[in-house]
Order: sequence, then C-alpha cells, then structure tokens
Amino acid sequence: MKKMLVVYYSWSFNNTKEIAEMLAEACGADIARIETVKAYQGSYDEVVSQGQKEVDAGFLPKIKAIDKAIADYDVIAIGTPTWWYTMAPAVHTFLNENDFSKKTVIPFMTNAGWSGTVIRDMKKECNAEKVLMDQEFTFSSQKNQRTLMMTEDVVLKKWIQNILNYLQ
Ligand SMILES: Cc1cc2nc3c(=O)[nH]c(=O)nc-3n(C[C@H](O)[C@H](O)[C@H](O)COP(=O)(O)O)c2cc1C
Repeated sequence: MKKMLVVYYSWSFNNTKEIAEMLAEACGADIARIETVKAYQGSYDEVVSQGQKEVDAGFLPKIKAIDKAIADYDVIAIGTPTWWYTMAPAVHTFLNENDFSKKTVIPFMTNAGWSGTVIRDMKKECNAEKVLMDQEFTFSSQKNQRTLMMTEDVVLKKWIQNILNYLQ
C-alpha cells in the first residue's frame, strides 16, 4: 500500500482543513498544516486585499516547517484555498521549497465560485513525477462560504474512493 501525506493550508473558514481531514481520515494518511511564520492580521476584507497584493507580486511568505518529511511518502495530497484565482501564497512557498520529482501529487482546492487557474498553477509549480486526481471543491457563497455545495458532497466521496483505490 502506498503511503500518503495530506498537507493543507486553510485561513478563512477551515474549508480546506475540513476536506483535508476527511481525506486523511478515510485513507489512514498522515496530515500536516502549512502555516505562515507571520500570521495574517486584520479583518477578512483587509486580508483579501493583502492577498491580492501578494498574489500579484508573486510574494512567497515564509512558512513554518511541517513536522513530516516529504521523503517518507509516496503520495502527497496538497490542498489550498483559492486566493485571487490561484493558490494561496503560503502553498506557493511550500511547493517551491519541496522536491516532488519522485512523488505523486494530488492537488485539491476550495473556492467560492471563481476557481481561476489554481490547479493548473499547482501542477506547474510542484514539478511532480505524477499529478493525479486533482479536484476542485466549491463552497456555497451563502452561509458565509462555509457550506460545501450538496453536489460537491457526492464528488468528495467519489474522489476519496478513487484515492483509496489508488493507494491499494
Ligand atoms: C485573500 C483571499 C482571496 C480569495 N480569492 C478567491 C478567488 O479568487 N476565487 C474564489 O472563488 N474564492 C476566493 N476566496 C474565497 C476562498 O477561496 C474560499 O472561501 C475558500 O474555501 C476558503 O478556504 P479556507 O477556509 O480553507 O481558507 C478568497 C479568499 C481570500 C481570503
């Protein structure tokens, strides 16, 4: 059985965390959270503006080391929220700092309806040996973007099952 690590970044509502935890639990995988060294400060709208500046500038924030070694795993599932149509800057840093050239990467993302080029950008940045089963999850823009759309629930179950089959 292949060994999987689920790595994720989550800032707004723990949407990405929720997906990451469900995946890790269903697959018996290890899990690690990406965190910036300097926490984002201010209101949601202020961070949305700061995020835009960072994305536009290609800024790579410093991130804390995760307590797992990429080298120990065959498959790395990497989750990000959508920030200005691409991955969150912290995930950009993570992809830049690690070597996935002998790994299978499963990119996944959450969004509020404007998914942009997140998956394409992650594929390009990670330089993985294989990229498989990439998946987008849209959270409803009602209820403060905290609710996974009903249709996505089916997608989530199917995605997890496909990953489980792949790990066998
Ligand atoms: C800085 C910032 C930029 C965002 N840009 C987008 C965007 O371009 N498209 C989109 O659909 N949602 C965007 N969102 C909404 C988040 O992607 C969405 O709510 C996501 O599910 C949050 O995940 P999290 O709770 O794991 O942080 C943005 C949120 C933030 C904070």
